[in-house]
Amino acid sequence: MLPFAAAKGGKLFIRIGEELRLLQRGARLAIGSARCQSAVFQDLPKAREVSHADPSSATPRRFLPAGPLKGTIRVPGDKSISHRSIMLGALAVGETRVTGLLEGEDVLSTAAAMRAMGASVERIGAGEWSVHGVGVGALLQPHAPLDMGNSGTSTRLLMGLVASHPIAATFVGDASLSKRPMGRVIEPLSRMGAAFEASEGANGSQTLPLTVRGALPAVPIEYRLPVASAQVKSAVLLAGLNTPGITTVIEPVPTRDHSERMLRGFGADLSVEVEADGTRVIRLVGEAELQPQTIEVPGDPSSAAFFIVAALVVPGSEVTIQNVGLNPTRAGIIEVLRQMGGSIEEVNRREVGGEPVADLVVRHSALKGIAVDPAIAPSMIDEFPALFVAAALAEGTTVTAGLEELRVKESDRITVMATALTAAGARVRETEDGLVIEGTGGDPLPGTAGAIATHLDHRIAMSMAVAGLASRAGVEVDDTRPIATSFPVFEALLDGLVQ
Ligand code: S3P
Repeated sequence: MLPFAAAKGGKLFIRIGEELRLLQRGARLAIGSARCQSAVFQDLPKAREVSHADPSSATPRRFLPAGPLKGTIRVPGDKSISHRSIMLGALAVGETRVTGLLEGEDVLSTAAAMRAMGASVERIGAGEWSVHGVGVGALLQPHAPLDMGNSGTSTRLLMGLVASHPIAATFVGDASLSKRPMGRVIEPLSRMGAAFEASEGANGSQTLPLTVRGALPAVPIEYRLPVASAQVKSAVLLAGLNTPGITTVIEPVPTRDHSERMLRGFGADLSVEVEADGTRVIRLVGEAELQPQTIEVPGDPSSAAFFIVAALVVPGSEVTIQNVGLNPTRAGIIEVLRQMGGSIEEVNRREVGGEPVADLVVRHSALKGIAVDPAIAPSMIDEFPALFVAAALAEGTTVTAGLEELRVKESDRITVMATALTAAGARVRETEDGLVIEGTGGDPLPGTAGAIATHLDHRIAMSMAVAGLASRAGVEVDDTRPIATSFPVFEALLDGLVQ
């Protein structure tokens, strides 16, 4: 069934009971028992008008073979936690202080959007931010489209926030983000009463630019996640914050739980029940009042992953990575690399910002190929590009499957990594839902002749940079600029470790 409102073939429909009605531009639309709201959707900007991708200013770099990596580094703050600390801070009345915030472009997009909706979000020092929130229910109407850049997390979570406020917001993004499917959040948020006008993407998908018109009051729903996605879960929970009654998300496969932890930390009434088969039932009591917090953001395990793999594959390396977040819903990469024979030692285990953290000591190891259990995928969903590089240098075959979600990340990470690794001389076979990689047994990869295409995907660029360190001729990456979305100091840290 089409959601409450949907755009098809350039026309906007609303669902009234079982009936679909064509909505004329300029018509008025009543949402639930809400006060009647104007349904004048502004004309959506064209994707190409908001694209940040200017290929003429791409910054290519050849990552050259390196001697042992030695030293101690500290990776920047966790991206998921950084987004959420700004969003929840913006919904609490009073000052939230955040330290260790990731100052990558994605998080800055969230900060700018929360400012555009009334919060004060200020940088005080390196990684230190002050957020003065407006209170749940009090977000203001933004006056211009919210530019999400490359950030899927900003887009989907903020769509949830807008969905239960009496405001409308248009979301735009770069060429990569404008291809990504938004139907997965439009569907539950429509059930809560929000109305949408989305662009039409490939295979009838709903994409940016899109406009959300929130419902007041929104309707609480019980939603069973059809895809293992923390972004979808979080969008529904954030919409639930300003919704009367109890919003329930049922999660058959656990995904990162930062939203649940942080919502509780800000004083929301949220419970998690784990059923016998592992299904998680998350209930949030709406019309919440959030209390401002002091948050220390732990280091991002997804950023640490590139250095873990680099130290494992470059002979003679020993690298200490301090302050790495080890939330069990994120730590799958460490488990899989250990199964492959990787030496990753945890020291100084502690808690930072309500999350388990340790320093990791990683030493070069003779890796062996394995069949990666598809059940572990959600806890390392962003780390597969780095894992594929480790597999390309391991002894024997690594088989991955059940990774359909990788096709809708910043790029199609299955095809793009298969193409890039093949260009670097690795033996890779692409399947529908994963890669089968025949490793070199520790010998360096031949390296690339020309540049590999990153398709505006930061994690492709960083993974192939690591492949370059363990190659003969180096690996050339067509554009290093996207790295700044999640890890602006990546190249500086890498260059500092190379002997
Ligand atoms: C994220 C969830 C994941 C992940 C993304 C960050 C989050 O996306 O890939 O980088 O912060 O909730 P999905 O929800 O699409 O799996």
